Amino acid sequence: MAVGNAHGEPSAESRILIVGLGLIGGSLAAALRASGHERSIVACDPDAAEIERGIQMGLIDGGDTRLAPLVEGASLIVLAVPVLAMRGVMADLAAALPKGAVSGAAPRVVITDVGSTKAAVRDCALAAFGELPAGLVLGHPIAGSEKSGVAASDPRLYANHKVILTPAADTAPAAVARVRALWQVCGAEVLEMEVERHDQVLARTSHLPHLLAFSLVDTLARQDERLDIFRYAAGGFRDFTRIAGSDPVMWRDIFTANRDAVLAALDDFEAGLGRLRRAVEAGDGDAMLATFDRASHARHYFDSLLNQTSYQAEYQMQRQGKLSFRAAPGGRVAGRIRVPGDKSISHRSIMLGALAEGVTEVKGFLEGEDSLATLQAFREMGVAIEGPHQGRVTVHGVGMHGLKAPSGPLYVGNAGTAMRLFAGLLAGQGFDTELIGDASLTKRPMGRVADPLRLMGAKIDTAEGGRPPLKIRGGQKLKGITYDMPMASAQVKSCLLLAGLYAEGETRVREPAPTRDHTERMLTGFGYEVHRDGDTCWLQGGGKLAAAPIDVPADISSATFFLVAAAITPGSNLLLEHVGINPTRIGVINILKLMGADLRLTNEREVGGEPVADLHIRYTPLKGIDIPLDQVPLAIDEFPALFIAAASANGVTRLRGAEELRVKESDRIQAMADGLAIIGVEHTVVEDGIDIVGAGDREVAYGGGRIDSLGDHRIAMAFVVASLRAGDEIVIDDCANVATSFPGFTELARVVGLRVSEETQEVGA
Ligand code: S3P
Repeated sequence: MAVGNAHGEPSAESRILIVGLGLIGGSLAAALRASGHERSIVACDPDAAEIERGIQMGLIDGGDTRLAPLVEGASLIVLAVPVLAMRGVMADLAAALPKGAVSGAAPRVVITDVGSTKAAVRDCALAAFGELPAGLVLGHPIAGSEKSGVAASDPRLYANHKVILTPAADTAPAAVARVRALWQVCGAEVLEMEVERHDQVLARTSHLPHLLAFSLVDTLARQDERLDIFRYAAGGFRDFTRIAGSDPVMWRDIFTANRDAVLAALDDFEAGLGRLRRAVEAGDGDAMLATFDRASHARHYFDSLLNQTSYQAEYQMQRQGKLSFRAAPGGRVAGRIRVPGDKSISHRSIMLGALAEGVTEVKGFLEGEDSLATLQAFREMGVAIEGPHQGRVTVHGVGMHGLKAPSGPLYVGNAGTAMRLFAGLLAGQGFDTELIGDASLTKRPMGRVADPLRLMGAKIDTAEGGRPPLKIRGGQKLKGITYDMPMASAQVKSCLLLAGLYAEGETRVREPAPTRDHTERMLTGFGYEVHRDGDTCWLQGGGKLAAAPIDVPADISSATFFLVAAAITPGSNLLLEHVGINPTRIGVINILKLMGADLRLTNEREVGGEPVADLHIRYTPLKGIDIPLDQVPLAIDEFPALFIAAASANGVTRLRGAEELRVKESDRIQAMADGLAIIGVEHTVVEDGIDIVGAGDREVAYGGGRIDSLGDHRIAMAFVVASLRAGDEIVIDDCANVATSFPGFTELARVVGLRVSEETQEVGA
């Protein structure tokens, strides 16, 4: 039966035919209309009343309950019928379409569908046409509603939703482009995927949750036929079961069509449910917490993906290098502040806390992206971790052999320390792991840890040139070695000591110069014996760690930016509280004092095995010096800021023996030299250092300009400090990574008197 103006109108040649005018087909028509689509849209539906309603709503121009009369003249056919009705519709189409209409490189007719499963629809097409037509592009808009029928059509149903297309190898590219354009007009984001992958992904993310919702509501309803308990059900029940109100016929069809993928998803779910059941039965709070904690974080992450205003979206935007700092010249430096927790100690507190027996309470934890990446990685290996809440973290240790295989690669972002220490720790586990990082970390050398670990018997693959990702094969028997480090690196030393915990015999590491000893101190604090004799430290494998509280001091590396700020700005007077002054970290204090800084340590004390003090600094003119070689490893992260001190001092400052700076988050010698050149500071670069000519007593020491931090947090912060003595504004680009070590840097800088603000450009700008 024909309804409305279905045949013969002028634009028939480019007509869109929607087969099945329910909510999905009707919303497509509505979205096309809303976008200004003027060509004819017709619909085929077994229910003439639905067609009538569609015409009245202005969605379609006409329709018919029979397919054949509508096919002629249609150039795009959208099948919006239930998956199980697809067989009949495909057969009707194959019979009605002229020969060759849907084949060739530029098929005259393009067919697509909206089915929730794809393999079953593909099989229907194969059966009907004898082969997959080149003009057939299977698709699936990931959008829906519990409502049904054309009356519920919503022109915004597909806006900002994903549509997955699953073209085959010989689908005509022109046909794919046509279908892609159709959905883009509706405001959807179009992706492509293979049929099988589509069905597996949807089985897990859509079909399984629907099955569970149907089952839960049905189970409760049967237990309580008068539906009394539903009266007491609150938000949790409503949220979890909303989708149980969906169209039963459609879902029967989906579970029938996607049977195998749904069963596989259900198997995994049942295994997980079984684990939780056992944890509840045994009252195993740690196991429950680990699961809930992982799930809660995963859910927040998922939320943030959906919610464009969330921190993850911001994070993504910043990751594209769109965060800049704008520092106005001048400003003052005064007050009393505490900078965030030490990054090195924060990483280690989670690592050792996780491997310990018992519960480790951490305070002062650095809530920066680097240490959070370490924390998240342990969650992914089954460790229950509460927090961080204002620097407090509770780690429920699982013991030396209690980590579980993560379900995918461990992403450590920008954190070199995480990747290198993890390499040692994971080499001793019974399962395989893969460590991946961001673009900057992916360029950094990992051979320095992979090579000695291999000598211990570890199996590690790296990408070319010893770069990440690191693929670590578990289940290897490690043996202790004596290793003479070719470079002064605390990360390499710590990596080997962590592997040594799992090795047979003794692991000994000799360092060419003293490097930070937080690992050794914390191991000792956790009851693990670590020996030292001169430049060598060692431990015996096979022991245990006992949880111990950790009080993370403020990071001297972060404090450095404010020490230098005060040291170069006339009139400054600043107190930095509770700063870690471990002797292996105080190169910056020694160097600034040698340059003549008025820097005093007060209130010296020890907390949790680490010395801390308040640092009081007042302005007095600095002088250039030759930086003593023995101070270089003790100030290795502080050089970007110290270069600014040098540029503001009287005379030349010379740095040598600092080739390690070239393999940090950026090549810090070159990155700083490039920035110094822009603001007009005279300098000479050498392979292992730099000479910097200071401005002396001139109030304005150098100019301003626009500087690329190269995504290196310390380069960005150093040039903010430079603004205090600059004659013009300094703008620093690509600053998002400041959050890796110093969240809240610009706010704190403003608190003491710097004139810095943040600018975020829109994505794509
Ligand atoms: C760190 C050691 C140093 C340092 C890094 C943190 C650590 O690296 O630069 O920021 O926590 O062990 P190297 O060991 O490569 O010198």
